[in-house]
Amino acid sequence: MKYDFTSVLERHGKDAMAVDSLGNEDWAPKAPEDGFDAIPMWVADMNFPTVPTVQQEIMERAGHPAFGYFTPSEEYYQSIIQWQTARNKVEGLSKECIGYENGVLGCVVSALAAFTSPGDKVLLHSPTYTGFTNSIGNIGLGIVHSPLKQDENHVWRMDYGDMDRKLKEHNIHAAVFCSPHNPCGRVWERWELEKAMEVYRANRCVVISDEIWSDILLNGHKHIPTQSVSEDARNRTVAVYAPSKTFNLAGLVGSYHIIYDKYLRDRVRANGSKSHYNNMNVLSMHALIGAYQPEGHRWVDELCQVLSGNINFACSFIEEHFEGVQVSKPEGTYMLFLDCSQWCRDHGKTVGDVLEAGWKVGVAWQDGRMFHGPCAIRMNLALPLARVQEAFRRLEKYVF
Ligand SMILES: Cc1ncc(COP(=O)(O)O)c(C=O)c1O
Repeated sequence: MKYDFTSVLERHGKDAMAVDSLGNEDWAPKAPEDGFDAIPMWVADMNFPTVPTVQQEIMERAGHPAFGYFTPSEEYYQSIIQWQTARNKVEGLSKECIGYENGVLGCVVSALAAFTSPGDKVLLHSPTYTGFTNSIGNIGLGIVHSPLKQDENHVWRMDYGDMDRKLKEHNIHAAVFCSPHNPCGRVWERWELEKAMEVYRANRCVVISDEIWSDILLNGHKHIPTQSVSEDARNRTVAVYAPSKTFNLAGLVGSYHIIYDKYLRDRVRANGSKSHYNNMNVLSMHALIGAYQPEGHRWVDELCQVLSGNINFACSFIEEHFEGVQVSKPEGTYMLFLDCSQWCRDHGKTVGDVLEAGWKVGVAWQDGRMFHGPCAIRMNLALPLARVQEAFRRLEKYVF
């Protein structure tokens, strides 16, 4: 490996919610008891240093002593076009279809507001990313969940009949689609995307496709952009991407949309721009340029190899050692979504007991109930393998 994915990154005192908020906020895991150090396995960022070209690019720009008003450079747009062409096999992407967004969630919310009225309902799959549920509720929209279901091989699948029924029943014309899926880790296959997009087409539903996880692909799985499955999908979809999840840049803020259809694009732009809250930061622009360089491609390839190893280790460990804990092996993302129902039934415990028992011994994992898993825990595996192994040793010894 060219890059370092094995050293433990010291993040304390370096603006990291993952470690500094433990025990300090009621929404964060509790701090460990004496004798245990904390292993951050909750909020979705990584305990790896980013690709060096990000820092180089930011430092080079920071060396010039003026930070006045600016417009995004040609290099910014070309970096995105080249990245999307190489990674996602996107064809015909031009600068006019790309727009800056202050966070992927910000775009999801602002795009929803462009196509709905207060009180309208939005279709989401469940389990679901808690950011969606909170922010959709916050802007006065209702949520209708279409539950994903595990097939006989424990692969999460969409229920197209249920989606169709709910879109019709609730007069829904806007949906949020997550690809790859957080927290279930599905990398949707082409036929699944085609079927889902057919259901949305039949119900004249605008699709906001959150593809923030599209670069984090495990064990050879391939991401297929929602917009690529048909001409209708291309024109029905607001796709949202970012280098933030891929390169550990969430603190720099900076995402972008791709919208081919002019009507959708004008509506989303109008909503995003009129408040003047949706402006790019010059260092964030340079971070993206630094990330989307040839070195970034190589770094992500290595990252995906490391994360695949972590996921493979964890899933095998669970199967061998934690009877009653069930996990559908993720194909993308670095999240595990553990179903502890059987284990809790067998041991007379609640998922809250299990969570607390982990926190006590430094396994700072996350309550899965807010992701609509009634007895679930979400676990972030973007750490050096040695730390993941240590966490699972502690879980075996003290929790399960
Ligand atoms: C599916 C999904 N969308 C959006 C976000 C947040 O993105 P941003 O920080 O750009 O708003 C996350 C973060 O975990 C996520 O998992």
